[in-house]
Parts: sequence; structure tokens; C-alpha cells
Amino acid sequence: MSHLLQHQDIAGKEWWDNGGGFFGRRYMEGDDSEVGYLTTPRRLDERTHIEVDGILRLLDLAPGDSVLDCPCGYGRHTNGLSLKGLRVTGADINSEHLGAAAELTAGRGDLVRLVVEDMRLMSYQQEFDAAINMFFSFGFFDSHYDNMKVLENFYRALKPGGRFLMHTDVSMSRVMSGKYKFSEERPLTNGGILRINERYDSQSRRINGEWILTGESGEERLTPYSVRVFSFQEFESWCHEVGFGKVVGYGDWTGAPLDDDSEDMIIVSYK
Ligand SMILES: C[S@@+](CC[C@H](N)C(=O)[O-])C[C@H]1O[C@@H](n2cnc3c(N)ncnc32)[C@H](O)[C@@H]1O
Repeated sequence: MSHLLQHQDIAGKEWWDNGGGFFGRRYMEGDDSEVGYLTTPRRLDERTHIEVDGILRLLDLAPGDSVLDCPCGYGRHTNGLSLKGLRVTGADINSEHLGAAAELTAGRGDLVRLVVEDMRLMSYQQEFDAAINMFFSFGFFDSHYDNMKVLENFYRALKPGGRFLMHTDVSMSRVMSGKYKFSEERPLTNGGILRINERYDSQSRRINGEWILTGESGEERLTPYSVRVFSFQEFESWCHEVGFGKVVGYGDWTGAPLDDDSEDMIIVSYK
């Protein structure tokens, strides 16, 4: 049976949905590049390692603490955090990603729970010490209401005193200053090439982009994507709106302050 999506699988689906044509097997190949996505060249496993250590540090987590990783994708942080002794719930809408996450975390069922979940519909109540939303995964939805619903769901999922960490490498200040790379080509570990073409639309404040993968079997264009870009101040005000108290911005995983030159924008909000 062919792994390629057929037209009828994609029709009527949003780009981010299970079988929507962007996330899935080809996305995992495209994310696994030789040079990473920031100016410091880092491979996927190196950046995951740095991120997991940073999550532990910035959220002050210890073995036994409970974490919600949503969307968990193919489980790179769920895996890394469970290897450090944390109890992790990895939630994602994509079945291929969750399948890969299950392989990665096999044998650690006492610490890892993987759940098929639409982040707009999560209904956890005061269950977690912390929650994470990693790698440009906030702002997928066209409606502001849906994006706020996601934030509210994270707030409700946390115990009192819980911490929520949102991470992105696409901040409004980088886009506005021209430091963000809209087009690039990355060599992949599977020998192929990923070409990324993006544009910023100032009306909708969204990045609209496309991934083109080239490999032995030729060229494949994944379904175009569109994600809302925001500033620290905007995200901070949204966090306050759903009930969070203190909101702190960091510019890297060591905890450096966020400024206009920061390549990462990491925002920690306290319940
Ligand atoms: C950019 S990836 C990031 C995954 C992971 N956090 C990481 O850093 O590797 C975004 C993920 O969001 C998931 N996703 C998209 N829409 C979703 C939704 N409505 N609910 C839950 N997950 C969703 C995708 O399946 C994909 O795994």
C-alpha cells in the first residue's frame, strides 16, 4: 500500500490536521536536517537535548513531576523528559507522529502516556505541574477564539502553582527586524533536501509557508501552512486574559533575557 496521501484524504482537511498533508512521515524527515534551524548549526538530537535540559531548568522540574507535552509530535521532548524521570503525557492529533512517539518511548509505560488529542478540546483539570508547547506550535488556527481556547486549556490543565512554557523560533521582533530567514535550503540526514519558502502577511500577522522535499523519489510539496506570529507583549496579555499571573520571557535555553536579537522566544507563565 502506498504511504503517499491521496487527494481524497486531504480534501476538506485543515493543513494541520491528521492526514492534512503537512504533518506526518514527510514532516519528520524534513525536521531531521543536518544543520538545524537557527544560525548555530545543530542536528535534531543536539537541539532536542538542549531543549530538554532547558525545559527542566526554566520550569524547575524534578523527577516524579508531571508534564503535559502538547503537541508532542513524534515525542522528542516526551521521550527526553521521561528519560529524566518525569511523568509525561504526550498529546497530538497526528497518528503517524504518535506512532513514532510510541516507538521512541517503548518500555517506559510507567512514565509516558500518549494521547490522541485536538489541543482545542483538551479537558484536563489541575493535573500537571507543568505544560509545554514546543517549536512554533501555537497559533495554527485561523480563529483567535480557537487559539485562546488552547491557552485556556493549558491553564486549566495545571495544578495551582503550575508553569506553562511556550517556545518558538519565529517571533514578531525577528520578523520585523528582517533577521528571520523566510527562504532556506537544508540538507537532510536521509540525503534529501528541504526547501522552505515563507512570506509574512501583515494583515493577518501570519507566516504562510511551504515545504518542498527533494529526494530519490523526486520532489514533493507538502500542504502549505499558516501560523500566527506574535510578540512577547501580545502573548503575555493573552496569558493574563486566561488567568495566568507572572509571565517571563527568555531568549535561550540557558535563561538569557529575551531581546530583539534572540533567535528563540521562550515564554513561561505561572498559574
Ligand atoms: C511543529 S510540530 C511540533 C511538535 C513537537 N512539539 C516538537 O517540537 O517536535 C506541531 C505538531 O502539532 C500537531 N498538531 C497540529 N494540530 C493539532 C491540534 N489541533 N491538536 C493537537 N496537535 C496538533 C501536529 O500533528 C504536529 O505534531
